[in-house]
Amino acid sequence: MTNFPVQQIRADFPILAEKIRGKPLVYLDNAASCQKPNAVIDAISDFYRHDYANIHRGVHTLSVRATDKFEAAREKVKSFINAAQAKEIIFVRGATEAINLIAQTFGKANIQTGDEIIITAMEHHSNIVPWQMLSEQTGAVLKVAPMNMQGELLYPEFEALLNDKTRLVAVVHMSNALGTINPVKKMIDAAHAKGIPVMLDGAQAIPHIPVDVQALDCDFYVFSGHKLYGPSGIGVLYGKQALLEAMPPYQGGGDMIRTVTFEKSTYAGLPHKFEAGTPNIADVVGLGAAIDYLNNFGMDAIADYEVELLAYATQQAEQIKGLKIIGEAAEKGAILSFTLERIHPHDIGTMLDSLSIAIRAGHHCAMPVMDFYQIPATARASFAMYNTLEEIDVLMGGIKGLIEAFG
Ligand code: ALA
Repeated sequence: MTNFPVQQIRADFPILAEKIRGKPLVYLDNAASCQKPNAVIDAISDFYRHDYANIHRGVHTLSVRATDKFEAAREKVKSFINAAQAKEIIFVRGATEAINLIAQTFGKANIQTGDEIIITAMEHHSNIVPWQMLSEQTGAVLKVAPMNMQGELLYPEFEALLNDKTRLVAVVHMSNALGTINPVKKMIDAAHAKGIPVMLDGAQAIPHIPVDVQALDCDFYVFSGHKLYGPSGIGVLYGKQALLEAMPPYQGGGDMIRTVTFEKSTYAGLPHKFEAGTPNIADVVGLGAAIDYLNNFGMDAIADYEVELLAYATQQAEQIKGLKIIGEAAEKGAILSFTLERIHPHDIGTMLDSLSIAIRAGHHCAMPVMDFYQIPATARASFAMYNTLEEIDVLMGGIKGLIEAFG
């Protein structure tokens, strides 16, 4: 193993010291939501204790302080994903809201009857349903790029779908159900060669691998704070300035206007045009603290460490008779989805919980992925930078124990 400071990191996450039914918590449900370090918890509580007021509105000291902290967090997000400008960072509730925003603004402005939107066979519901809703509203057609049994995109089939009716490619960077990391740079370049913009759903990728939106040249990138060791209820829409400027607003209200009369309103510039109403101020500050915390270690080091965790978990899982890994892409993030012969994933989840091992069992908001594999659900262990090889041993021991128990 590398000398990644995992024990130092674990000490920063108070919840990891919890015991459930007297046993140390083994938290392996990070793809659903990550736990929070003291740096994030303290940043939020300090903000409420010392700096809180509404932003962009007051001349008083607290309002200025709160505004400065809120906008400083925007700068931190900008640097974290290497956006060209802070005004290309829009704060939303999460990746889901960001995709809905794109569908209802960019989509409504640019997509018409007969136009096509391309997604992939491994999307989360949040990158399917908003496009279905837009298609119902506009008469657009949703095209699905297929994958193979390893859970890898069939790239030539994807490329063949790109045509002069395609108005947007909206694709998951890393699959939450399978762990697959898609060849997004190649996909973006192919789409751009035909003048088609690309949105990446980065909800799963962002805590695991370095993301550089300028190097990728994606047109939109969306993610949630809560999977990035930050608070829930906050997320980010990155969009290229020219695209965001051309898009109509999403919601109307305070903070997104320049002038209002009863006859007509004009809108604020970026990023405020898309941030109507009082935002989730403290959680934006918390997200900024999460990014500062991650920068202490660096996303390259985190990614390298998680590669080792996944390799070890995969190697151990492969030795368990009756265990089938769902999602075996060559390029894969730290997610181990699996099924066991004769044991339903929900029973796996419940039995492991009795050992204080937290995993997720279900369709993972990716029902079409389950349909593809003709299974109702999987059990999913998803790893974070604070997980250890010893915890993987505990997981594997738990799985072996329940196989024995079920005979
Ligand atoms: N999308 C989240 C997951 O994969 C909730 O669990």
